[in-house]
Amino acid sequence: MFQGCGLFACVRRRGADVRKRGEAGTASSRVAAEPPLGWDEELEVEVPAAAAARQMAWAEVESATGSFSFRVIGRGGFSTVYLAALSSSRLGAVKVVQHCGSERHSRAFRQELDVLLTLRHPHVVRLLGYNCDERDEGVLVFEYAPNGDLHESLHGRGADNALLPWPRRVAIAFQVGMALEYLHDESSSREVIIHGDIKASNVLLDANMDAKLCDFGFAQSSSGGVKAHRAGGGRPSGRAIMGSPGYVDPHLLRTGVASKASDVYSFGVLLLELVSGREAVCRETGRRLTQVVGPAVSEGKVADVVDPRLGQQHEAGEASVIAELAMRCVGDSPGLRPSMADAVRVLQEKTSALLCAVGSRLDRKIMF
Ligand SMILES: Nc1ncnc2c1ncn2[C@@H]1O[C@H](COP(=O)(O)OP(=O)(O)OP(=O)(O)O)[C@@H](O)[C@H]1O
Ligand SMILES: [Mg+2]
Repeated sequence: MFQGCGLFACVRRRGADVRKRGEAGTASSRVAAEPPLGWDEELEVEVPAAAAARQMAWAEVESATGSFSFRVIGRGGFSTVYLAALSSSRLGAVKVVQHCGSERHSRAFRQELDVLLTLRHPHVVRLLGYNCDERDEGVLVFEYAPNGDLHESLHGRGADNALLPWPRRVAIAFQVGMALEYLHDESSSREVIIHGDIKASNVLLDANMDAKLCDFGFAQSSSGGVKAHRAGGGRPSGRAIMGSPGYVDPHLLRTGVASKASDVYSFGVLLLELVSGREAVCRETGRRLTQVVGPAVSEGKVADVVDPRLGQQHEAGEASVIAELAMRCVGDSPGLRPSMADAVRVLQEKTSALLCAVGSRLDRKIMF
């Protein structure tokens, strides 16, 4: 269990090397911002001694956000996310989920909180605190990801929006893959989790441009190991079907049954997005990315779909591996899609850029 903990686990960082929109970071550069290390008995490696998330008083939340006057850093369907000063030197992100008097909204918030409390992984956003008792709003307090989300980074049109380099795209694919592998892991002692809403705006980018999966508002868990869940009926979210346009598994739309394979499908769309630099749904035509680039990839013409902004600044072989893996992930038959463990293995074995991204050692138990 707890695969992928090694970004914490490798070595103590030698100084904060925080870079924005940079090349793939090295192992040493990414550990600096983490808290002090402790010893994980099970893995026999050093991991950060992260404190468990704690209930925070409303007054504490107000104080951290300047009574919600600080910058709004994100808005979702039912939530607003504020920048917060957790201490003189530490920023946070405060997600306020409006219940609006709705029992279903408040159950959805509770579900997200309950899932987050069971998770600990370097590529899942860390929950630091919460407030759920005092108001008609639920509050989740997270570590702050200063480079925003992957959607902004890939598709943002601001002047300061630098191009995401190829090695960083590969590293992000790998990191999100590891986070999903961790959620789906049936050998874990905690419940298996279906994320239910994998998409670029739910992938945060930290100071080193490392990925942190967020937004567990659609997550479902099962202690017996999730084979499939009927979405909608039992869901507290108020949204009939899990997922977002362009990312949601057509099989899930047809049957209402969510499974690990539906997360795999959405991950496949995310891979196509990283390779092509195009959005999951084309703004002009409304066509899904799978329809736009799928045929060319299936014919082996991956070069035709690689993000033109990259020019020659990418590894053609890696782009082929990732695009072909993506097509397996978005295959019609859920049973024929790779597991997340398989997908991560392919990425690890076939993409040398990862060596740059994580350092020269690829012993996953140590490095990830
Ligand atoms: N910890 C964080 N650090 C930086 N930005 C964040 C953080 N958490 C969330 N955000 C920003 O806020 C946005 C909305 O957050 P989140 O996805 O959790 O809300 P949501 O209401 O569930 O969204 P939706 O349902 O629309 O996907 C994110 O896409 C991201 O841009
Ligand atoms: Mg979101």
